[in-house]
Amino acid sequence: MEKTFLMVKPDGVQRELIGEIVSRFEKKGFQLIGAKLMNISNELAEEHYGEHKERPFFGELVEFITSGPVFAMVWQGENVIATARQMMGSTNPSDAAPGTIRGDFGVTVGKNIIHGSDSPESAKREIGLFFNESELVEYSKLINNWIY
Ligand code: PPS
Repeated sequence: MEKTFLMVKPDGVQRELIGEIVSRFEKKGFQLIGAKLMNISNELAEEHYGEHKERPFFGELVEFITSGPVFAMVWQGENVIATARQMMGSTNPSDAAPGTIRGDFGVTVGKNIIHGSDSPESAKREIGLFFNESELVEYSKLINNWIY
């Protein structure tokens, strides 16, 4: 089953959107298999966003993601990587469609509420950066085994 890494960023945590965001993915039908509220170190932030090192906003990005707690999650389900990105909406909240998380709650490009892996390779890498194998809980539904 496909897995992705999703993270409510410091602005989403401060604005008390954790429950709203978890609820959207649960209602969609995806399965939460790992979650934790945590502070990100500079080292982890620089590693996580390593591919953007040369971009002009890199310092700002690292400063923001380390500015307060984040809510890190692993979700699983069919096509969850691409579907979660659709549910998040465009990176710039002003381009994000209503009904998406960024379209409904975000305003500025730096503070866009949520991060989600953009490919199977980045999902694997990001899950490995944030979670130990023992923190992921695989389980099946007891009655409706057609639900993920
Ligand atoms: S994406 O989704 O990776 O294609 O978006 P991209 O434009 O490449 O942006 C990469 C991450 O940088 C964040 N970002 C910014 N942060 C601060 N200031 C500015 N101007 C800015 N522009 C982009 C963007 O939200 C992406 O972070 P994540 O966590 O991947 O969403």
